[in-house]
Amino acid sequence: MRTIDDLNVAGRRVLLRADLNVPLGAGRIEDDRRIVASLPTLRTLLVRGAGVVVCAHLGRPKGAPDPWLSLAPVAARLSELLGCHVPLAADTVGPAARAAVAALRPSEAVMLENLRFNPGETAADSAQRGAFADQLAALGDVYVGDGFGAVHRRHASVCDVPARLPHADGYLIQSETAALRRLTRHPEKPYVLMLGGAKVSDKLGVIENLMGTADRIMIGGAMAFPFLAALGHPVGRSPLASADVSRAFHCLMLADEADVDILLPIDTVVAPEPAAGVPRLTVSRDDVPVDQMCLDIGPETAKHFADGIAEARTVFWNGPMGVFELDAFADGTREVAHAVAGSGAFTVVGGGDTAAAVRELGFTDEAFGHVSTGGGASLEYLQGKTLPGLAALEN
Ligand code: 3PG
Repeated sequence: MRTIDDLNVAGRRVLLRADLNVPLGAGRIEDDRRIVASLPTLRTLLVRGAGVVVCAHLGRPKGAPDPWLSLAPVAARLSELLGCHVPLAADTVGPAARAAVAALRPSEAVMLENLRFNPGETAADSAQRGAFADQLAALGDVYVGDGFGAVHRRHASVCDVPARLPHADGYLIQSETAALRRLTRHPEKPYVLMLGGAKVSDKLGVIENLMGTADRIMIGGAMAFPFLAALGHPVGRSPLASADVSRAFHCLMLADEADVDILLPIDTVVAPEPAAGVPRLTVSRDDVPVDQMCLDIGPETAKHFADGIAEARTVFWNGPMGVFELDAFADGTREVAHAVAGSGAFTVVGGGDTAAAVRELGFTDEAFGHVSTGGGASLEYLQGKTLPGLAALEN
């Protein structure tokens, strides 16, 4: 793969695809980490005299402008962080974008409006995507892909534009893929995979793919329910999909054959619903009442998981152990985060929810070896799938 260091960008217009899909609350950015993570590539391009056309998406608009999903707050924050004004064009490839790009000088940046305001960006039809990619490609001389969080999407700006322009990857994609490679190719052993949270079926794919690579797999949060149910343990009113139970059972069989330890919760914190102030109880995994939900791993489980992490040389963690957003159900996630942060292993925290959880619980990113900016992208990478955005940069 060509990197930005191989590109001559001085005096050229660089179309930079970044992932600036930040959480917004009432129009304010709640976490600017994805913007911060995009700065090294952007700064390097500016220092080297490129005119940078930043393009990105925000949320999931339906192929038409939506004022709530304008990139305006992102352009404003990017300007603050860079210390220079990054104007936002009022459209993606229309007259405003073309005028802004025509006025761009070396070492200046401009941002296009949310790419998903144009239906061509996410179109399943390759001709429709291609038509939008043609218009985007006309705004740059070269393309740099650095939006790691979006590389699992077959979208025009991610996959079709690099086929039309000389291209290279940026520093964020390089650091993300380097960290994930360490988890898939010859990881230092023992290698612990710790999975929790929702999106159960994606994570079952990770377990299946890393079965021969990981030594011990610890499972908490909603991810544990199908495994517990497959072994006949009650999960009360916790959400459960029967397809996940059969797949979890299959994973348990594979683990047995591959001599991989799967550690499941031995105790759990239950309550009638995930709400503040509800009565809660810690029970053994065999005593979950039918009218209760499992909302956190219990203290014995947290200790058991922490002991396993202490022995590891490599740890990948995706998914909280409980409903950490509520104080009453945050202890399990906090304990496990302490263990990961204090371990001498190479640790990778993946997924927006997990990164948000560790930050909300007071940990800084520096406490971990790598905190991925891509939730879905890192999971698909670890499932062994070909990520269309990475494949496009390799061609
Ligand atoms: C993300 O938030 O994971 C990426 O920005 C991709 O967004 P998407 O899931 O809406 O495609």
